[in-house]
Amino acid sequence: MSELKITGGTPLRGEIDADGSKNASLPIMAAAILADSPVCLQRVPLVDDVHTLSRVLGELGINVSRCDDGDLTLETVDDQPVRARYELVSRMRASFCVLGPLLARRKKAVVALPGGCNIGDRPVDVHLRGLSALGARLKLQNGYIVAQADHLRGAKIDLGGTRGPTVTGTANVLSAAVLAEGTTTILAAATEPEIVDLGDFLTKCGAKIEGLGTPTIRVTGVQRLRGATHRVIPDRIEAATLLMAAAITGGSLTVRAIRPEHLDIVLIKLAEAGFVIEKGADWVSIRADGAPLPVEIIAEPYPGMATDIQPQWTALLSLAGGRSTVEDRVFPNRFMHLAELNRLGANIQRRNGSAVIEGVGCLTGAIVEASDLRAAAALVIAALAASGETILRQSEHLDRGYQRLDKKLNSLGARIERYP
Ligand code: EPZ
Repeated sequence: MSELKITGGTPLRGEIDADGSKNASLPIMAAAILADSPVCLQRVPLVDDVHTLSRVLGELGINVSRCDDGDLTLETVDDQPVRARYELVSRMRASFCVLGPLLARRKKAVVALPGGCNIGDRPVDVHLRGLSALGARLKLQNGYIVAQADHLRGAKIDLGGTRGPTVTGTANVLSAAVLAEGTTTILAAATEPEIVDLGDFLTKCGAKIEGLGTPTIRVTGVQRLRGATHRVIPDRIEAATLLMAAAITGGSLTVRAIRPEHLDIVLIKLAEAGFVIEKGADWVSIRADGAPLPVEIIAEPYPGMATDIQPQWTALLSLAGGRSTVEDRVFPNRFMHLAELNRLGANIQRRNGSAVIEGVGCLTGAIVEASDLRAAAALVIAALAASGETILRQSEHLDRGYQRLDKKLNSLGARIERYP
């Protein structure tokens, strides 16, 4: 377990580059199973989830290596293994993304069913429904999904779920459909930029895909995929987290090397909250001239506000001049951070799938505990604005998805110490 000691009160100022997207990198790395020659991925962030998936892929006969220039090379050295262990899948649910590629390329997959999760129920029924529509035979055996198919056949598949489209479910089905015989139409597909990036990667490998970024994706199956070189998109969640960190401290920051169009709704809402936003082709800047104005945030599938920045919004709005609400329609139970923010002096109440936030004049440092990656980010943001010292326990959650966030923030004037 690690801890961060955060001394709040310094406005963040300067410029910083965003890293590559964690949530784009993971399904693309899993899709490397499909290629019959090496894959080279650029801008894959150095985060724990990438290390965990590298271990899963290693056990599946994929050699994952990082070159001196940071590029990640993935090469199949043994195409026989088909099992992804519970010990690794339970550590990171996105490991489940190997299911579709394994099934399509190796005809069989034995992948642990992910268990419970701190951000709420996260079933995989829609993933399984999609793969079954492609002709996979599926059964649950000793906690593992055993999937088999000699031939996947294209089909019309509805991936609609009760909470909207599924991101990694779309990744799994798309990655299987590219090698299925005939045409697959995926209805109610996720439109997130991370899925578009996966589709772009698969296309470079020789897949035939239309409709990426729309709810209807059409795939014409091909017989084989070759390896390719692909530069992963910038991390829109990291970029938003950095912008909000600067905003809450009353600072000014430019985040570079990003795709501002992926942040449309974030920038609209930050402007509505009173921050001054400017942007160019690959950068966004923010300037805070005072406390945020209260706003209403609804986390929804893309192009709506990402649930992965809902906790950060909750932190930022805890200092707004009035009442804000933050609703999460994707993960209505993703509110473990509220009680911790209240320990810092915030006044937030939970109402079903929403947080009702009465803005307070100041936050004060305290010991708090992170329950997951984005809750940790929210607590860091709040601590940067709190007077005195905050100790963030279980800060290792941050390293799952941010490449040394503490170091980046310190380069902008924050005072964060890491133990050990
Ligand atoms: C992805 O998870 C992300 N992970 C999550 O990021 C993100 O919070 C989430 O999408 C939503 O944007 C990766 O990309 C690796 P979903 P995923 O399937 O794909 C329900 C982070 O902090 N559902 O799109 O697992 C589900 O319960 C992480 O970086 C079903 O009902 O999420 C949820 O309510 C955490 N049945 C909704 O759909 C299914 O079979 C959307 O979840 C699948 C999902």
